[in-house]
Amino acid sequence: MAISYPLTNLGAFMLMFLWLLLSAPSVWGRPATFLQDFRVTWSDTHIKQIDGGRAIQLILDQNSGCGFASKSKYLFGRVSMKIKLIPGDSAGTVTAFYLNSDTDNVRDELDFEFLGNRSGQPTTVQTNIYANGKGNREQRVNLWFDPSADFHTYTILWNHHHIVFYVDQVPIRVYKNNEARGIPYPRMQPMGVYSTLWEADDWATRGGLEKIDWSKAPFYAYYTDFDIEGCSVPGPANCASNPRNWWEGAAYQALTPLEARRYRWVRLNHIVYDYCTDKSRFPVTPPECLAGI
Ligand SMILES: *[C@@H]1O[C@H](CO)[C@@H](O)[C@H](O)[C@H]1NC(C)=O
Repeated sequence: MAISYPLTNLGAFMLMFLWLLLSAPSVWGRPATFLQDFRVTWSDTHIKQIDGGRAIQLILDQNSGCGFASKSKYLFGRVSMKIKLIPGDSAGTVTAFYLNSDTDNVRDELDFEFLGNRSGQPTTVQTNIYANGKGNREQRVNLWFDPSADFHTYTILWNHHHIVFYVDQVPIRVYKNNEARGIPYPRMQPMGVYSTLWEADDWATRGGLEKIDWSKAPFYAYYTDFDIEGCSVPGPANCASNPRNWWEGAAYQALTPLEARRYRWVRLNHIVYDYCTDKSRFPVTPPECLAGI
């Protein structure tokens, strides 16, 4: 008896260990490697896989920029990746990460665009939202850290209640579903996940005044920890309307008090442009901008 107990325990332990070992791949399946979820869409000579495909390097030089896209489209969910942006003088470059329905006239699109700057000047993040083909909803935030020194997490949450853009755990943009008041909200079309690195020195930095310095090329950006959780399309037909999807849960239907505090801090300290207050472009305030909505 005194011996068989430890043996039985050891047996149980071994079984447990075996089970853990066998079930590990599904537990460790995320974050995915680049090729599991994505394909190169523009210039595969300018995208290099590193760390066994768990990270990639994007290259911009005078010959080309580059881009990639998810293999599937998704209807609602959360997409995040870690990005390390171009260091030093990145003026005139744009690194983008966005969702896009890829439909010409009734395009839905959610954009993160990182606008390069001269050395030591802040990197600007522009966000934009297209719903049913209409965009022109730009906001800009200057980052409160150097995004080229380290990887930071950039996330888009998209559910039936709102769309939230996060930088690390900080919401920088919220677009509520106000369809009940006639304000368009993307909810009919699945969107793919896209990224590009390109030259846009006609507009990107100080309105196009700062040009790209090609003597600093090639420019490199790095991506890792690709994480897409959502209803893939094609996929189970009722997935997107299932209220039990975690991204539709109570904790994701509005900002938490902590998130709301952080969002206020961004709005007070880091916003540098908001279409909502641009009277020269929009003499009539766009309805989604009105306080309380
Ligand atoms: C670049 O730096 C200038 C000067 O600090 C700043 O005004 C601007 O917002 C920054 N970003 C862009 C995209 O021009």
